[in-house]
Amino acid sequence: MEISTGKKIPCAVFISGRGSNLKSIFNYSKKKSSKIYLKIVISDRHKIKGIRFAKKNKITNKVISFKNKKKAEQQILDFLKKNNIQLICLAGFMRILSKNFIKSFKNKIINIHPSLLPKYKGLNTHERVIKNKEKFSGCTVHFVSEKLDSGKIIMQQKVKILKSDKPKKLEKRVLTVENKLYPKAIKKILSMN
Ligand code: GRF
Repeated sequence: MEISTGKKIPCAVFISGRGSNLKSIFNYSKKKSSKIYLKIVISDRHKIKGIRFAKKNKITNKVISFKNKKKAEQQILDFLKKNNIQLICLAGFMRILSKNFIKSFKNKIINIHPSLLPKYKGLNTHERVIKNKEKFSGCTVHFVSEKLDSGKIIMQQKVKILKSDKPKKLEKRVLTVENKLYPKAIKKILSMN
């Protein structure tokens, strides 16, 4: 990954909701040993928990309307470039970024997905793994490529599915693992230089 290290690198997190992964990335960024600092939070929605968290912790945040996707992405790109952002972490961001956007930040956009990719790309992963009687699920941090949930895998972790599991219950356990995995994956790509 062509990211200059040395000083902490400016990073942006994109969210659309709860923001538990945002919180874990923020806590990691605050550590002395971390290689990132969380400069910007971008969201496509107002009044979400993640934005409240950003405001409370005085992280610069911007809510962008996606009514016009092209315009929205251009606005975000300009803002990120102006702030010298070098790493974008998607954390529950519910919009699919265009090829053009992804190209502008080649190998600098990562995402967390609540399944063991390449299995169960897309939405409603927990419902689907339970319905298919899988023994394990888990989560994956991967680079974002032009194809949905298909970029190079950085790290993944398994979670055992219990007989009594319902989607909500499994989601909760996977999320706890996600929150630990995301900072580890960031650490890993930044030590790849
Ligand atoms: C997580 O399950 C993540 O894997 C998925 O969206 C959810 C976001 O959760 N992409 P949170 O907003 O970080 O709590």
